[in-house]
Amino acid sequence: MSQPPRPAPGRSVTVRVPAKVNVQLSVGPRRPDGFHDLANVFLAVGIHDRVTATTAPDGQGPGISCSGPGSEHVPLDGRNLAVRAAELLAAHHGFVPDVHLHIDKDIPVAGGMAGGSADAAGALLACDTLWGTRTPRADLLELCARLGSDVPFSLVGGAALGEGRGERLTELPVGGTFHWVFAPADGGLGTPEVYRECDRLRGAAAVPEPAADPALLAALRAGDTAGLAAALANDLQPAALSLRPDLAATLAAGLAAGAPAGLVSGSGPTCAFLAPDAEAAAGIAATLVANGVSPRARATAGPVPGATTIESHA
Ligand code: C5P
Repeated sequence: MSQPPRPAPGRSVTVRVPAKVNVQLSVGPRRPDGFHDLANVFLAVGIHDRVTATTAPDGQGPGISCSGPGSEHVPLDGRNLAVRAAELLAAHHGFVPDVHLHIDKDIPVAGGMAGGSADAAGALLACDTLWGTRTPRADLLELCARLGSDVPFSLVGGAALGEGRGERLTELPVGGTFHWVFAPADGGLGTPEVYRECDRLRGAAAVPEPAADPALLAALRAGDTAGLAAALANDLQPAALSLRPDLAATLAAGLAAGAPAGLVSGSGPTCAFLAPDAEAAAGIAATLVANGVSPRARATAGPVPGATTIESHA
C-alpha cells in the first residue's frame, strides 16, 4: 500500500461530535442477520467528544489515546471504533493509516448516547481532513454505515429518522430548541445485550413493523415540547430496566424534580428528561446532583450540528 499525500509529522485536525438521544426508538422483529429493523428518530444534543488526528511518525499505524470521564473503559486497540474508522478510510483510498487519534470524552461511555459512534464519525472526518482526501459525503456516509448503525447520524447531526438498522437516514425539520437533562449512570450497558433482552422479553409475541409516529414528527417540526413529551417512546426501555432495575428510580426522580417526561436514552443506562426551558433543565439537573441520584446529571439542548472540524493544522 502507498502513503497518502501526507502532511508533515505533528500536523493535526480536531473534530467535535455530538451525542444523541432517541426521541422515538421503535424496534421491529429480529432479522435473520441478527439486527432489528428500526424506526429511530435521532436528535443530536450538546454533549460532545473531541477527536484529534495527528500525523504519526512514518510507518506507524493508527495509535489511540483517550482522556476524560470514563476513558479508562475505552478500548485502546483495534476494537476501538475510531481506529477502525481510520483503517477503513485509509483502505478506501489505498494507503496505510499512519495517524495518531486522541479522543477527549465528554459523552458517557457505553451510556446509550452513541459515544463510540461519535468517535468513529469524528475520526473519519478528522482523517479525511488531515489526509486531504476530500472523500465525497455519500462515500463517507457509506463508510459510517459499515462501522455501525448509529455512525451515519453522528456525522450528520441535527434530527433524522433512521430506518433499516438505523443507518438509512432522512433528515427531519425541527422548529425550535428542545431542552434536556441527561442523567448518566455508573457502569455501562452493552447494546447487543439490551437487544437480546428485548427479544427475550417479547418471547413469541407478534412484533409490528416499526414506523415513525406522525405526532412525534409534528411536535419536532413545531418545536412543541409538550407534544414531544407526550410522544417520547423507546422500545428498548423495558429491556434496559430489566437489566438495570435501578433506572426506574432515576426516571421517577427526574419526574419528581419537575420534568414533564423522561426515558432511557437508546440502550441506556443514561436517562434523559425533557424540560420546558433552559432554566427548568438547569434546576432539574441540579436537583438530581444534589439528591445523589445522578452526580453527573447535566442540562443541555438540541438539535445541534453533526461532526464539525474545529481546529485544523493540516
Ligand atoms: O450497528 P452496531 O454495531 O452499533 O450494533 C451493535 C449491536 O446492536 C448489534 O450487534 C446488534 O446486536 C444490535 N443492533 C440490532 N439492531 C439494530 C442495531 C443494533 O439488533 N438495528
